[in-house]
Amino acid sequence: MMIAVSGKGGVGKTFIAGTLATLFVRSGHRVIALDADPSPNLAQTLGLSFDEAARIVPIAENEQLIRLKTGTEFSGVFRLTFTVDDIIDNYSVPTPAGPHLMVMGTVRSMGAGCTCPANSVVKALLRYLVVERDEVVILDMEAGIEHLGRGTAEHVDTMIVVTDANRKSLEIARTICRLAAESNIHRIGLVGNRITGSQQENAIRLFAGKNQLNIFTMIPYDQQVADAGITGSEVDEKTSSALPAIGRLADVLANNDDIVTNARTGKETTKF
Ligand SMILES: Nc1ncnc2c1ncn2[C@@H]1O[C@H](COP(=O)(O)OP(=O)(O)O)[C@@H](O)[C@H]1O
Ligand SMILES: [Mg+2]
Repeated sequence: MMIAVSGKGGVGKTFIAGTLATLFVRSGHRVIALDADPSPNLAQTLGLSFDEAARIVPIAENEQLIRLKTGTEFSGVFRLTFTVDDIIDNYSVPTPAGPHLMVMGTVRSMGAGCTCPANSVVKALLRYLVVERDEVVILDMEAGIEHLGRGTAEHVDTMIVVTDANRKSLEIARTICRLAAESNIHRIGLVGNRITGSQQENAIRLFAGKNQLNIFTMIPYDQQVADAGITGSEVDEKTSSALPAIGRLADVLANNDDIVTNARTGKETTKF
């Protein structure tokens, strides 16, 4: 299962991706949290220090590895079949929160038809993780939409599009939903984040209704989470309001339930 988390910059993608990955480990899954943001910071959310994070070499920027996998004796000629199991053993980093972390690095032009060596290694890796190893892969994506070329999403089965009530976030969310649908991702939905009240929740529901977008769930604004972002403090699960909401999201994703909210009526079709 591969779950991608996307949305405008600053809406909470990394927090949600990291928390989901952690919760999937707790429920007994093997999980790879894959940081696909060119400015990666998922490591901190999973409890690694800045120093530990700085030592991780992103896969796509690891020239030695890419050459080892795809190089041939002929310049400009790349091998397209190679093994990737050793990449997971050697380059995924265990984290205090539980998931193994891999940092993808910048892959220029991930569109279909791009056969640059780094891209083929990343693609082969994603395929191997999902198809051969049956891992839960949580992809923390780059802000915005540029990276969502048609070739990117091959193994993504669920696209979580995080948004707040801000118009700009919602517009970007709508575009991501459209591109995800064009990429044949079958489960696509919004997650409203940092909700402080019914006005914000209603704005998201109204926008979703008008544009026929599904809503997975709403996550309240949680002062502890905001503070954790500033000071690095821990979030206390017993008193956090955001974590239970992400927990419910993880449950339904894992159970493969249809958690789609009827965007027109705003009625949830599942037992949230
Ligand atoms: N539900 C929430 N309540 C309060 N603060 C939040 C919530 N979700 C995310 N944040 C905070 O918002 C900031 C941006 O979140 P982040 O996950 O880094 O966004 P992104 O990855 O989309 O750029 C972080 O400081 C994070 O702690
Ligand atoms: Mg982020």
